[in-house]
Parts: sequence; structure tokens; C-alpha cells
Amino acid sequence: MSDWVSALRGREAVFRRAPSAHNTQPWVVRYGTDEVAVHWDPARALPDSDPTGRDLFLSLGAFVEACLITAADAGLPVSVEVDVDAGERRVARLVSADAVYDTRFPAAALELRRCARGEYQPGELAPVVLEEASLDADLAACGGQLRAVPCRELAGLLVDADRWMFGTPAVVRELRGWLRLSPRHPRYAVDGLTDRAMAMTRAEAVGLAAVLAPAVYPVARRLGAPALLAAASKGLLRYDGSVLVLVGPVDGPADLVGHGRALLRVWLSLASRGLAVHPLSQLIDCAATAAALRSRLGLGAGESPLAVFRVGRYVTEPVRSGRLPTVGP
Ligand SMILES: Cc1cc2nc3c(=O)[nH]c(=O)nc-3n(C[C@H](O)[C@H](O)[C@H](O)COP(=O)(O)O)c2cc1C
Repeated sequence: MSDWVSALRGREAVFRRAPSAHNTQPWVVRYGTDEVAVHWDPARALPDSDPTGRDLFLSLGAFVEACLITAADAGLPVSVEVDVDAGERRVARLVSADAVYDTRFPAAALELRRCARGEYQPGELAPVVLEEASLDADLAACGGQLRAVPCRELAGLLVDADRWMFGTPAVVRELRGWLRLSPRHPRYAVDGLTDRAMAMTRAEAVGLAAVLAPAVYPVARRLGAPALLAAASKGLLRYDGSVLVLVGPVDGPADLVGHGRALLRVWLSLASRGLAVHPLSQLIDCAATAAALRSRLGLGAGESPLAVFRVGRYVTEPVRSGRLPTVGP
């Protein structure tokens, strides 16, 4: 194994801080003699909530970017060859390069970044911050764009999207598999979405676990539980804040990997300004709300909404999400 491969391997815990939908951490890292291949684990994909693989490839892209940032911080000259192979379930190869990857983000930024789902201080994002984040993330390189929408304008759509999400049995089944609503859950510290990460009170977590339990959910669904659960998110966007939408052209998984790399750079840039994000992917998972969002943004046929997240300064510091343990050499 080359020196750079073992040096990067020694820093695995740093690049594993990359974000992923439902915190599934779908990446599989294969260390070769002089390359590091990034594959994915189909058991960690979300075929029901993410049937197009949008979030899968965005997450894998964020992971690749985290690898490059970690390598650059260690002074290792590494570059990436994005090469999606569905048969091999591989997205990219990290290879040795002539120069260190050019990034403005230190590895410490990966450790500091986290999603925040609680209350944010009121205030819309200044347009200059949007411009700076777009430049920092080099969105132009992949044809991406950040569009800002005042939170209140999307409050009703979020309720519709949540009602769809909680009312779709396959999506709920998949979500249930990744929820860790009690600290006693055996995987609480390693993956998935915990009650604490979702800023839930104990009573809210117990209530959600009860309604989504396999034996209860079918009946609860018929009795209107999805509307009740969605009503709980009514207040989430009813304040003076901003939602950002990453928009860009997509002509296959390699484009999504590129947008995922850019998405991580956007989140790191915002974090460097003390701004946290709260992704709301259900707005683009639900066909009806995705169409309404497209029309609100006036998107053309060649542009897709890729990620939607509110952004702001949190009131209470969010917890650090769990990660799978690194497997030693
Ligand atoms: C492509 C993508 C989509 C995501 N969608 C959502 C979402 O819809 N709702 C949410 O609360 N978090 C979402 N997240 C955030 C993840 O849940 C989060 O990254 C993961 O739980 C790890 O937590 P951390 O980012 O705080 O380290 C998304 C993340 C990615 C990369």
C-alpha cells in the first residue's frame, strides 16, 4: 500500500464525518495499492424514499469531497476520478496526483459541521452570504445555483410533504429502520437518526415511536395520523428565515456526485460563517410539492431541485451525530 493510501486510511474517522441522508453512511471504501475506491452498500441505500438515487449519489459525492479535503489537509497529493459503475457499485477512485487538492476548507471544518433541526434565530440570509457560499463552493463548476426562498413561503408545502411522507407506507417502513428514538437503541451511537439529532423531546420521541410501530401504523394511518404528524411541522418554517435550494442540471449519477461534492462545500462555507442547515428533502421527494417548488423557482426543463434546506443560526447547539466505527488496517 502506498504511503499516501495508508496516511489517508489513518484519517478515516475524519472523512467519515461526511453527511448522508438518514445518516445511512452508504459508502464502502476499498483501499488498493495506489488508489482508494469509493463504492456503496445497497443495504444502506433508500430505494423507497429515494427511488432515483438522488440522495444516495449526493451523499457519496459529499463523502468523496470529504476524502479530498482530508487528504489536502494532510498535504497528500490526491485527486478524484468520478467513474460511476452500477455493476461494481462504485462511484469514484481517489488516485495520486501532481498537486494537493485546491480547497479552502481545513479537515477541522468536517469535524465542526453538523445539521441543526431545532429553533433558529430569526433573520433572512443576506444576499452577499449566498453569493459568497456559491463562490466558496465553486458551484459554477457543475452548473449549480443556490436559490433562496423565505421560510414562510414554504410552510404550507412542508406540511403537504410531511403528510405525504408519513402517509406512504413504504417510506415510513424505511424511515422506521433508520430511526433511533431511544438511547437504548443498539445502534444509537453508530448510524441513523436519533431523537436528539432531530431535536425531539422524550415525549415526542415516545409518541412518534408508538405511532410508527409496525402493529399500530396501518390503523393510525387510516385514522389520520399522517395529518397529525405533519401538523407538528407547521411551525417549523413560520418565522423570518431562509430556505436555500440547490438547483442544477442532472444527466446521470456522475452529475449528482458532482453536486454532492458542491453541496458539502456549501454547507462547510455556511458553517464557517456560523450558519447551520436543516435539510428538508421531503419537499423534493414528494412529487406534488416538488412540482410546486419547481414552479415557485421558475425552473426550466434542464434544471432540477437537488437539495432543500433551511439555514440560520441555531439557538441550542445540536448534538454530534453517530458514525460507524472505522475498520482498522
Ligand atoms: C443528500 C442528503 C439529504 C438529506 N436529507 C435530510 C432530510 O430530508 N431531513 C433531515 O433532517 N436531514 C437530512 N439530511 C441530513 C442527514 O440526516 C445528516 O447529514 C445525517 O443525519 C448526519 O448528521 P450530520 O450531518 O449532523 O453529521 C440529508 C443529508 C444529505 C447528505
